[in-house]
Amino acid sequence: MTNSASDLSDINRLLGAIDDVGRDRANGGWSRHLFDGAERELRTWFTEEAGRRGLAVETDRNANLWAWWPEPGPDAVVTGSHLDSVPGGGPYDGPLGIAAAFAAVGRLRERGFVPERPLAIVAFAEEEGTRFGLPCLGSGLMTGSINADLARRARDSEGTTLADAVAAAGLAPSELGADPQTLGRIGRFVELHVEQGRALADRDRPLAIAGSILGHGRWRFGFRGQGNHAGATGMDDRSDPALPAAELVLAARRIAKSVPGARATVGRLHPRPGGTNVIASAVDAWLDARAATDTQVRGLVEQISAAAEHAAAEEGCSLDVVEESFAEAVHLDSALSWRLGATIGDVPRLDSGAGHDAGVLCGHVPTAMMFVRNPTGVSHSPEEWAEPDDRAAGAAALADVLAELAGP
Ligand code: GLV
Ligand code: MN
Ligand code: MN
Ligand code: MN
Repeated sequence: MTNSASDLSDINRLLGAIDDVGRDRANGGWSRHLFDGAERELRTWFTEEAGRRGLAVETDRNANLWAWWPEPGPDAVVTGSHLDSVPGGGPYDGPLGIAAAFAAVGRLRERGFVPERPLAIVAFAEEEGTRFGLPCLGSGLMTGSINADLARRARDSEGTTLADAVAAAGLAPSELGADPQTLGRIGRFVELHVEQGRALADRDRPLAIAGSILGHGRWRFGFRGQGNHAGATGMDDRSDPALPAAELVLAARRIAKSVPGARATVGRLHPRPGGTNVIASAVDAWLDARAATDTQVRGLVEQISAAAEHAAAEEGCSLDVVEESFAEAVHLDSALSWRLGATIGDVPRLDSGAGHDAGVLCGHVPTAMMFVRNPTGVSHSPEEWAEPDDRAAGAAALADVLAELAGP
């Protein structure tokens, strides 16, 4: 792994160019959601950077962006990640993998490398599922793991359907869905991603290869009670849905702690109508649950739901639980991961608590992932970070991997 000065400046120049896109300077976080102004700006950046490197750009039926070297074809070596973020997220979850891909292609071009099989950079649409609630939307639609009819009807917080958002972006909503032709071109997929924990910082190593990804899903808990006056209603005369919602938060912590390695989080709560002097009539709360096996995830959600049901009944509230997404636990491809290790050197193997498009692709094509050290260990937050030297080391390693996979 050697870095020339030009590699260092290339990935860092690429990332520097988008650093202000979707950035809220007041809270320091980045918000880039499917087809909003920031995400559209990043799509333009992607297209321009592809053009600069002579790559052919196309948008597929599911709003995923592709840049091909030299042109679309079978058995392609594909790398990339996503451009969107969580609300107020970090700068690199997603874009690091895409900037690294462009820097790697630039480095291979400089070396005079000519791919023997097609090489592509992809930006999958709405990986975080922030706008429409469906994580890995673009890769899930392409592979058919997300039902296109359900997806078309999914609504954002303003009530706009995905079908309408796609139409407004100039794509055909009727075309959304399984895309065997695009999927069929992918021979291998490698996603480079910023690490979302402290393992590499603790080991003093810049890069890792991924092992497995936790099973995970999202559930919406709809608590319904009696909206009422905060001052005029006696404490024994209430059906306040905030009470069972609070129990949901506590139960998620308590129950996940009883299963080794499991995680459960309520990161989003909507009391309605939302007045300080109003007992809410409804609270919607979203549970994110993850564990090493799908059975463990299902078990967690069952126990947490039972605790929330019990608390709702005690308060005279109703509860309706809807599964919004589920992704099985996966092991990334061992042979491809071994080949990555043989190419970039003996680096640590890390499992991923976060979900990725790589997890979706994994059931269809040989897929592997690389992680770049994050010294803060924090992600989905503005404190997420990767040092310029580590970003460059990631891009250089990715270039070696692409040369190995797409070369003679
Ligand atoms: C993706 O970032 C996830 O939430 O797992
Ligand atoms: Mn990501
Ligand atoms: Mn993420
Ligand atoms: Mn070879």
